[in-house]
Amino acid sequence: MHVDLLITNIGELLPMAQQGPVKGKQMNELTVLHDMAIGVKDGKIIWIGPRQEGKGFTAEKTVDAENKLVTPGLVDPHTHLVFGGSREREMSLKQQGVPYLEILKQGGGILSTVASTKQASDEELLKKALFHLDRMASYGITTIEGKSGYGLDRETELKQLEVVRAANEKHPIDIVSTFLGAHAIPPAYKENSDLFLDKMAAMFAEIKEKDLAEFVDIFTETGVFTVAQSRKFLQTAKEHGFAVKIHADEIDPLGGTELAADIGAVSADHLAVTSDEGIEKLANSETIGVILPGTTFYLGSNEYARAREMIDAGAAIAIATDFNPGSCVTENLQLIMSIAALRLKMSPAEIWHAVTVNAAHAIHRGDVAGTIAVGRNADIVIWDAPNHLYIPYHYGVNHTNTVIKNGNVLYERQGIFR
Ligand code: NIG
Ligand code: FE
Repeated sequence: MHVDLLITNIGELLPMAQQGPVKGKQMNELTVLHDMAIGVKDGKIIWIGPRQEGKGFTAEKTVDAENKLVTPGLVDPHTHLVFGGSREREMSLKQQGVPYLEILKQGGGILSTVASTKQASDEELLKKALFHLDRMASYGITTIEGKSGYGLDRETELKQLEVVRAANEKHPIDIVSTFLGAHAIPPAYKENSDLFLDKMAAMFAEIKEKDLAEFVDIFTETGVFTVAQSRKFLQTAKEHGFAVKIHADEIDPLGGTELAADIGAVSADHLAVTSDEGIEKLANSETIGVILPGTTFYLGSNEYARAREMIDAGAAIAIATDFNPGSCVTENLQLIMSIAALRLKMSPAEIWHAVTVNAAHAIHRGDVAGTIAVGRNADIVIWDAPNHLYIPYHYGVNHTNTVIKNGNVLYERQGIFR
Protein backbone atom coordinates (compact mmCIF):
# COMPACT_ATOMS: atom_id res chain seq x y z
CA MET A 1 0.00 0.00 0.00
CA HIS A 2 1.15 3.58 -0.68
CA VAL A 3 0.23 6.29 1.81
CA ASP A 4 0.92 10.00 2.26
CA LEU A 5 2.02 9.58 5.84
CA LEU A 6 3.09 6.48 7.75
CA ILE A 7 3.50 6.63 11.51
CA THR A 8 5.61 3.68 12.58
CA ASN A 9 6.90 2.23 15.84
CA ILE A 10 3.97 3.28 18.00
CA GLY A 11 4.73 1.98 21.49
CA GLU A 12 1.25 2.52 22.92
CA LEU A 13 -1.80 3.54 20.89
CA LEU A 14 -5.09 4.80 22.30
CA PRO A 15 -7.56 4.50 19.42
CA MET A 16 -10.54 5.57 21.63
CA ALA A 17 -14.13 4.46 21.11
CA GLN A 18 -15.65 4.84 17.64
CA GLN A 19 -19.11 5.19 19.16
CA GLY A 20 -19.71 7.87 21.71
CA PRO A 21 -20.18 9.60 23.96
CA VAL A 22 -18.78 7.08 26.42
CA LYS A 23 -20.82 7.11 29.62
CA GLY A 24 -20.36 6.20 33.27
CA LYS A 25 -18.22 3.20 34.17
CA GLN A 26 -17.34 2.61 30.51
CA MET A 27 -15.20 5.73 30.72
CA ASN A 28 -12.77 3.67 32.75
CA GLU A 29 -12.44 1.01 30.04
CA LEU A 30 -9.68 1.90 27.65
CA THR A 31 -8.39 -0.04 24.67
CA VAL A 32 -4.59 0.10 24.69
CA LEU A 33 -2.77 -1.31 21.63
CA HIS A 34 0.97 -1.95 21.38
CA ASP A 35 3.50 -1.99 18.54
CA MET A 36 1.21 -0.39 15.98
CA ALA A 37 1.45 1.76 12.85
CA ILE A 38 -0.97 4.17 11.15
CA GLY A 39 -1.37 5.01 7.44
CA VAL A 40 -2.81 8.35 6.31
CA LYS A 41 -4.03 9.47 2.89
CA ASP A 42 -5.70 12.75 1.88
CA GLY A 43 -5.82 13.88 5.49
CA LYS A 44 -7.73 10.79 6.67
CA ILE A 45 -6.68 7.66 8.51
CA ILE A 46 -6.88 4.79 6.01
CA TRP A 47 -5.10 2.01 7.86
CA ILE A 48 -4.23 0.95 11.41
CA GLY A 49 -2.32 -2.24 12.06
CA PRO A 50 0.65 -4.01 13.61
CA ARG A 51 3.96 -2.25 13.00
CA GLN A 52 5.33 -5.30 11.18
CA GLU A 53 2.65 -5.02 8.49
CA GLY A 54 3.34 -1.32 8.03
CA LYS A 55 6.93 -2.12 7.14
CA GLY A 56 5.78 -3.27 3.69
CA PHE A 57 4.20 0.13 2.90
CA THR A 58 5.64 2.96 0.82
CA ALA A 59 5.00 6.51 2.02
CA GLU A 60 5.59 10.13 1.00
CA LYS A 61 6.60 10.81 4.59
CA THR A 62 7.38 8.48 7.47
CA VAL A 63 7.35 9.53 11.11
CA ASP A 64 9.04 7.22 13.59
CA ALA A 65 7.11 7.32 16.89
CA GLU A 66 10.10 5.79 18.68
CA ASN A 67 7.94 3.53 20.86
CA LYS A 68 6.16 6.52 22.37
CA LEU A 69 2.49 7.06 23.24
CA VAL A 70 0.17 8.01 20.33
CA THR A 71 -3.38 9.34 20.81
CA PRO A 72 -6.02 11.28 18.91
CA GLY A 73 -5.47 15.05 18.80
CA LEU A 74 -6.99 16.61 21.91
CA VAL A 75 -10.37 18.32 21.66
CA ASP A 76 -11.02 21.39 23.84
CA PRO A 77 -14.83 21.74 23.93
CA HIS A 78 -15.08 25.03 25.87
CA THR A 79 -12.94 28.10 25.13
CA HIS A 80 -13.51 31.84 24.95
CA LEU A 81 -10.95 32.13 22.18
CA VAL A 82 -11.60 35.63 20.82
CA PHE A 83 -11.21 38.61 23.14
CA GLY A 84 -9.40 41.93 23.38
CA GLY A 85 -6.91 42.88 26.10
CA SER A 86 -6.06 40.97 29.26
CA ARG A 87 -6.86 41.26 32.97
CA GLU A 88 -3.60 40.72 34.86
CA ARG A 89 -4.40 43.79 36.98
CA GLU A 90 -7.34 41.93 38.56
CA MET A 91 -5.00 39.37 40.10
CA SER A 92 -4.31 41.56 43.14
CA LEU A 93 -8.08 42.01 43.74
CA LYS A 94 -8.37 38.25 43.74
CA GLN A 95 -5.52 37.98 46.23
CA GLN A 96 -7.36 40.42 48.50
CA GLY A 97 -10.31 38.05 48.38
CA VAL A 98 -12.67 40.08 46.20
CA PRO A 99 -15.04 37.45 44.73
CA TYR A 100 -15.28 36.91 40.95
CA LEU A 101 -18.96 37.95 40.86
CA GLU A 102 -18.18 41.09 42.92
CA ILE A 103 -15.51 42.20 40.40
CA LEU A 104 -18.12 41.70 37.66
CA LYS A 105 -20.71 43.67 39.65
CA GLN A 106 -18.29 46.60 39.86
CA GLY A 107 -17.95 46.66 36.07
CA GLY A 108 -14.73 44.66 35.94
CA GLY A 109 -14.25 41.04 34.97
CA ILE A 110 -16.17 40.06 31.84
CA LEU A 111 -17.30 43.69 31.39
CA SER A 112 -13.71 44.92 31.29
CA THR A 113 -12.93 42.42 28.51
CA VAL A 114 -16.09 43.61 26.73
CA ALA A 115 -14.65 47.14 26.68
CA SER A 116 -11.29 45.91 25.31
CA THR A 117 -13.01 43.75 22.72
CA LYS A 118 -15.14 46.66 21.49
CA GLN A 119 -12.01 48.77 21.07
CA ALA A 120 -10.01 46.13 19.19
CA SER A 121 -10.09 45.96 15.40
CA ASP A 122 -10.97 42.76 13.55
CA GLU A 123 -7.31 42.42 12.56
CA GLU A 124 -6.10 42.75 16.14
CA LEU A 125 -8.61 40.20 17.40
CA LEU A 126 -7.70 37.76 14.64
CA LYS A 127 -3.97 38.09 15.22
CA LYS A 128 -4.45 37.45 18.92
CA ALA A 129 -6.75 34.46 18.31
CA LEU A 130 -4.22 32.93 15.91
CA PHE A 131 -1.51 33.36 18.52
CA HIS A 132 -3.57 31.46 21.10
CA LEU A 133 -4.45 28.79 18.52
CA ASP A 134 -0.77 28.26 17.78
CA ARG A 135 -0.16 27.69 21.44
CA MET A 136 -3.12 25.30 21.70
CA ALA A 137 -1.72 23.34 18.75
CA SER A 138 1.63 23.07 20.48
CA TYR A 139 -0.16 21.45 23.43
CA GLY A 140 -1.71 18.81 21.19
CA ILE A 141 -5.13 20.37 20.63
CA THR A 142 -6.49 19.91 17.09
CA THR A 143 -10.18 20.85 17.51
CA ILE A 144 -11.80 23.43 19.78
CA GLU A 145 -15.02 25.24 20.49
CA GLY A 146 -14.82 29.05 20.53
CA LYS A 147 -17.41 31.41 22.01
CA SER A 148 -18.40 35.02 21.45
CA GLY A 149 -19.72 36.87 24.50
CA TYR A 150 -17.36 39.80 24.89
CA GLY A 151 -19.45 42.09 22.71
CA LEU A 152 -22.91 42.14 24.29
CA ASP A 153 -24.14 44.32 21.45
CA ARG A 154 -25.04 43.29 17.92
CA GLU A 155 -22.06 44.84 16.21
CA THR A 156 -19.37 43.52 18.55
CA GLU A 157 -20.89 40.06 18.91
CA LEU A 158 -20.97 39.77 15.10
CA LYS A 159 -17.38 41.03 14.96
CA GLN A 160 -16.30 38.29 17.37
CA LEU A 161 -18.17 35.60 15.45
CA GLU A 162 -16.64 36.80 12.16
CA VAL A 163 -13.20 36.59 13.77
CA VAL A 164 -13.94 33.02 14.92
CA ARG A 165 -14.84 32.21 11.32
CA ALA A 166 -11.69 33.87 9.93
CA ALA A 167 -9.52 32.07 12.50
CA ASN A 168 -11.12 28.76 11.56
CA GLU A 169 -10.36 29.43 7.89
CA LYS A 170 -6.81 30.57 8.50
CA HIS A 171 -5.64 28.16 11.18
CA PRO A 172 -5.43 24.36 10.79
CA ILE A 173 -7.19 23.83 14.15
CA ASP A 174 -10.92 23.30 13.58
CA ILE A 175 -13.12 25.70 15.53
CA VAL A 176 -16.77 25.09 16.34
CA SER A 177 -18.51 28.41 16.90
CA THR A 178 -20.85 29.27 19.78
CA PHE A 179 -22.90 32.46 20.21
CA LEU A 180 -22.64 33.54 23.87
CA GLY A 181 -24.36 36.93 23.60
CA ALA A 182 -25.94 36.11 26.99
CA HIS A 183 -22.62 36.19 28.86
CA ALA A 184 -23.23 39.20 31.16
CA ILE A 185 -25.67 42.06 31.57
CA PRO A 186 -24.30 45.32 30.12
CA PRO A 187 -24.63 48.23 32.60
CA ALA A 188 -27.29 49.98 30.48
CA TYR A 189 -29.59 46.96 30.95
CA LYS A 190 -28.87 46.39 34.63
CA GLU A 191 -32.52 46.88 35.55
CA ASN A 192 -33.90 45.18 32.47
CA SER A 193 -32.06 42.02 31.66
CA ASP A 194 -35.14 40.58 29.91
CA LEU A 195 -34.93 43.34 27.35
CA PHE A 196 -31.22 42.61 26.86
CA LEU A 197 -31.94 38.91 26.26
CA ASP A 198 -34.62 39.90 23.73
CA LYS A 199 -31.97 41.94 21.91
CA MET A 200 -29.57 39.00 21.83
CA ALA A 201 -32.34 36.60 20.76
CA ALA A 202 -33.19 39.02 17.95
CA MET A 203 -29.77 38.15 16.47
CA PHE A 204 -30.54 34.41 16.14
CA ALA A 205 -32.02 34.63 12.64
CA GLU A 206 -29.13 36.68 11.30
CA ILE A 207 -26.48 34.44 12.90
CA LYS A 208 -28.21 31.39 11.49
CA GLU A 209 -28.54 32.91 8.05
CA LYS A 210 -24.87 33.89 7.96
CA ASP A 211 -23.95 30.50 9.45
CA LEU A 212 -21.85 32.19 12.13
CA ALA A 213 -22.53 29.75 14.96
CA GLU A 214 -23.74 26.20 15.58
CA PHE A 215 -24.37 26.54 19.30
CA VAL A 216 -25.99 29.09 21.60
CA ASP A 217 -24.83 29.34 25.21
CA ILE A 218 -25.85 31.38 28.29
CA PHE A 219 -24.25 32.17 31.67
CA THR A 220 -26.85 30.98 34.19
CA GLU A 221 -25.56 32.48 37.45
CA THR A 222 -26.39 34.74 40.40
CA GLY A 223 -26.40 38.36 39.21
CA VAL A 224 -26.32 37.25 35.57
CA PHE A 225 -29.23 35.22 34.12
CA THR A 226 -31.81 33.16 36.00
CA VAL A 227 -32.84 29.61 35.18
CA ALA A 228 -36.22 30.88 33.90
CA GLN A 229 -34.55 33.44 31.62
CA SER A 230 -32.10 30.81 30.40
CA ARG A 231 -34.86 28.33 29.63
CA LYS A 232 -36.75 30.86 27.52
CA PHE A 233 -33.62 32.09 25.73
CA LEU A 234 -32.36 28.60 24.86
CA GLN A 235 -35.81 27.38 23.78
CA THR A 236 -35.93 30.26 21.32
CA ALA A 237 -32.42 29.36 20.14
CA LYS A 238 -33.55 25.78 19.55
CA GLU A 239 -36.54 26.99 17.55
CA HIS A 240 -34.05 28.77 15.31
CA GLY A 241 -32.21 25.51 14.75
CA PHE A 242 -29.27 25.97 17.14
CA ALA A 243 -27.91 23.29 19.43
CA VAL A 244 -27.50 24.64 22.97
CA LYS A 245 -25.08 24.68 25.90
CA ILE A 246 -25.21 26.25 29.37
CA HIS A 247 -22.61 27.74 31.74
CA ALA A 248 -24.23 25.86 34.61
CA ASP A 249 -23.62 25.82 38.37
CA GLU A 250 -20.18 27.44 38.18
CA ILE A 251 -20.37 29.51 41.37
CA ASP A 252 -23.88 29.18 42.83
CA PRO A 253 -26.06 26.05 42.47
CA LEU A 254 -28.96 27.66 40.60
CA GLY A 255 -29.96 24.53 38.69
CA GLY A 256 -28.42 25.10 35.28
CA THR A 257 -27.45 21.43 35.09
CA GLU A 258 -31.06 20.33 35.64
CA LEU A 259 -32.18 22.81 32.99
CA ALA A 260 -29.61 21.50 30.51
CA ALA A 261 -30.90 17.95 30.94
CA ASP A 262 -34.55 19.10 30.74
CA ILE A 263 -34.16 20.96 27.46
CA GLY A 264 -31.79 18.50 25.80
CA ALA A 265 -28.70 20.72 25.80
CA VAL A 266 -25.73 19.06 24.09
CA SER A 267 -23.60 19.97 27.09
CA ALA A 268 -23.81 21.49 30.56
CA ASP A 269 -20.51 23.18 31.38
CA HIS A 270 -18.68 23.90 34.69
CA LEU A 271 -20.86 21.87 37.14
CA ALA A 272 -18.65 22.85 40.09
CA VAL A 273 -21.58 23.09 42.51
CA THR A 274 -24.22 20.95 40.78
CA SER A 275 -26.86 19.54 43.18
CA ASP A 276 -27.60 15.85 43.80
CA GLU A 277 -30.69 16.21 41.64
CA GLY A 278 -28.61 17.79 38.89
CA ILE A 279 -26.17 14.87 38.94
CA GLU A 280 -29.05 12.40 38.74
CA LYS A 281 -30.67 14.24 35.85
CA LEU A 282 -27.40 14.63 33.99
CA ALA A 283 -26.66 10.91 34.32
CA ASN A 284 -30.09 10.02 32.94
CA SER A 285 -29.87 12.38 29.97
CA GLU A 286 -28.03 12.68 26.67
CA THR A 287 -26.37 15.88 27.89
CA ILE A 288 -22.58 15.71 28.28
CA GLY A 289 -21.12 17.24 31.44
CA VAL A 290 -18.16 19.43 30.47
CA ILE A 291 -16.14 19.97 33.63
CA LEU A 292 -13.69 22.89 33.82
CA PRO A 293 -11.51 22.14 36.85
CA GLY A 294 -8.88 24.70 35.82
CA THR A 295 -11.47 27.40 36.46
CA THR A 296 -12.20 26.13 39.97
CA PHE A 297 -8.45 26.12 40.59
CA TYR A 298 -7.92 29.59 39.12
CA LEU A 299 -10.87 31.10 41.03
CA GLY A 300 -9.29 29.80 44.23
CA SER A 301 -12.27 27.67 45.16
CA ASN A 302 -12.15 24.28 46.81
CA GLU A 303 -15.51 23.23 45.47
CA TYR A 304 -14.56 21.04 42.55
CA ALA A 305 -17.19 19.36 40.40
CA ARG A 306 -18.21 16.00 41.82
CA ALA A 307 -16.92 14.11 38.81
CA ARG A 308 -16.69 10.79 40.65
CA GLU A 309 -20.36 10.88 41.60
CA MET A 310 -21.33 11.99 38.09
CA ILE A 311 -19.42 9.17 36.43
CA ASP A 312 -20.56 6.61 38.98
CA ALA A 313 -24.16 7.70 38.33
CA GLY A 314 -23.62 7.06 34.61
CA ALA A 315 -22.95 10.50 33.10
CA ALA A 316 -20.74 11.17 30.08
CA ILE A 317 -18.02 13.63 31.12
CA ALA A 318 -15.68 15.78 29.06
CA ILE A 319 -13.10 18.24 30.36
CA ALA A 320 -11.98 21.54 28.86
CA THR A 321 -9.70 24.48 29.56
CA ASP A 322 -12.39 27.24 29.58
CA PHE A 323 -9.52 29.31 28.15
CA ASN A 324 -10.50 32.96 28.80
CA PRO A 325 -8.86 36.14 30.18
CA GLY A 326 -10.53 36.03 33.61
CA SER A 327 -11.41 32.71 35.18
CA CYS A 328 -8.92 30.32 33.56
CA VAL A 329 -6.01 31.85 31.70
CA THR A 330 -4.30 28.89 30.06
CA GLU A 331 -4.28 27.08 26.72
CA ASN A 332 -2.68 24.04 28.37
CA LEU A 333 -5.25 21.24 28.35
CA GLN A 334 -2.57 18.85 29.63
CA LEU A 335 -2.44 20.87 32.85
CA ILE A 336 -6.23 20.56 33.12
CA MET A 337 -5.82 16.77 32.73
CA SER A 338 -3.54 16.79 35.78
CA ILE A 339 -6.00 18.88 37.79
CA ALA A 340 -8.73 16.40 36.79
CA ALA A 341 -6.59 13.59 38.16
CA LEU A 342 -5.57 15.36 41.36
CA ARG A 343 -8.76 17.20 42.27
CA LEU A 344 -11.60 15.43 40.45
CA LYS A 345 -10.02 12.03 41.18
CA MET A 346 -10.67 10.91 37.64
CA SER A 347 -8.66 7.91 36.44
CA PRO A 348 -6.28 8.26 33.47
CA ALA A 349 -8.70 6.23 31.30
CA GLU A 350 -11.59 8.56 32.22
CA ILE A 351 -9.45 11.62 31.55
CA TRP A 352 -8.44 10.40 28.08
CA HIS A 353 -12.10 9.81 27.19
CA ALA A 354 -12.87 13.30 28.52
CA VAL A 355 -10.39 15.10 26.23
CA THR A 356 -10.95 13.04 23.07
CA VAL A 357 -14.14 11.21 22.13
CA ASN A 358 -16.46 12.79 24.72
CA ALA A 359 -15.07 16.27 24.10
CA ALA A 360 -15.69 15.81 20.36
CA HIS A 361 -19.29 14.74 21.00
CA ALA A 362 -19.81 17.75 23.28
CA ILE A 363 -19.32 19.97 20.21
CA HIS A 364 -20.97 17.70 17.61
CA ARG A 365 -17.69 16.52 16.10
CA GLY A 366 -17.84 12.90 17.25
CA ASP A 367 -17.97 11.75 13.63
CA VAL A 368 -14.61 13.27 12.63
CA ALA A 369 -12.51 13.98 15.74
CA GLY A 370 -11.50 12.45 19.06
CA THR A 371 -10.89 8.94 17.70
CA ILE A 372 -8.21 7.13 15.74
CA ALA A 373 -10.17 5.00 13.30
CA VAL A 374 -10.26 4.39 9.57
CA GLY A 375 -12.11 7.21 7.83
CA ARG A 376 -11.58 9.78 10.61
CA ASN A 377 -9.51 12.92 10.32
CA ALA A 378 -5.81 12.18 10.76
CA ASP A 379 -5.57 14.30 13.93
CA ILE A 380 -2.87 12.52 15.89
CA VAL A 381 -0.42 13.33 18.69
CA ILE A 382 2.89 11.59 19.37
CA TRP A 383 3.79 12.22 23.01
CA ASP A 384 7.17 12.28 24.72
CA ALA A 385 5.79 9.69 27.10
CA PRO A 386 6.00 5.92 27.37
CA ASN A 387 2.32 5.41 28.20
CA HIS A 388 -1.01 7.18 28.76
CA LEU A 389 -0.68 7.26 32.56
CA TYR A 390 2.29 9.56 32.20
CA ILE A 391 0.55 12.72 30.88
CA PRO A 392 -1.64 13.59 33.91
CA TYR A 393 1.16 12.45 36.22
CA HIS A 394 3.99 14.74 35.06
CA TYR A 395 2.20 18.04 35.38
CA GLY A 396 2.47 21.63 34.21
CA VAL A 397 4.75 21.06 31.21
CA ASN A 398 4.18 20.29 27.54
CA HIS A 399 4.62 16.65 26.58
CA THR A 400 3.91 16.84 22.85
CA ASN A 401 6.55 15.52 20.50
CA THR A 402 4.67 15.78 17.18
CA VAL A 403 1.16 17.12 16.54
CA ILE A 404 -0.52 16.10 13.28
CA LYS A 405 -3.67 17.76 11.90
CA ASN A 406 -5.44 16.35 8.84
CA GLY A 407 -2.30 14.36 8.06
CA ASN A 408 0.07 17.34 8.20
CA VAL A 409 2.65 17.98 10.89
CA LEU A 410 1.37 21.04 12.76
CA TYR A 411 3.93 21.20 15.54
CA GLU A 412 7.17 19.46 16.38
CA ARG A 413 9.10 19.84 19.59
CA GLN A 414 12.31 21.70 18.98
CA GLY A 415 14.80 20.16 21.33
CA ILE A 416 18.51 20.81 21.51
CA PHE A 417 19.09 17.06 21.26
CA ARG A 418 16.09 16.21 19.11
O1 NIG B 1 -16.61 30.26 31.75
N1 NIG B 1 -18.47 32.16 33.57
C1 NIG B 1 -18.50 32.90 32.64
N2 NIG B 1 -17.64 32.96 31.64
C2 NIG B 1 -16.31 32.55 31.70
C3 NIG B 1 -15.41 33.58 32.30
C4 NIG B 1 -15.24 34.71 31.41
C5 NIG B 1 -14.37 35.80 31.97
O2 NIG B 1 -14.13 35.90 33.18
O3 NIG B 1 -13.93 36.58 31.12
C6 NIG B 1 -16.18 31.22 32.36
O4 NIG B 1 -15.65 31.09 33.47
FE1 FE C 1 -16.71 29.60 29.97
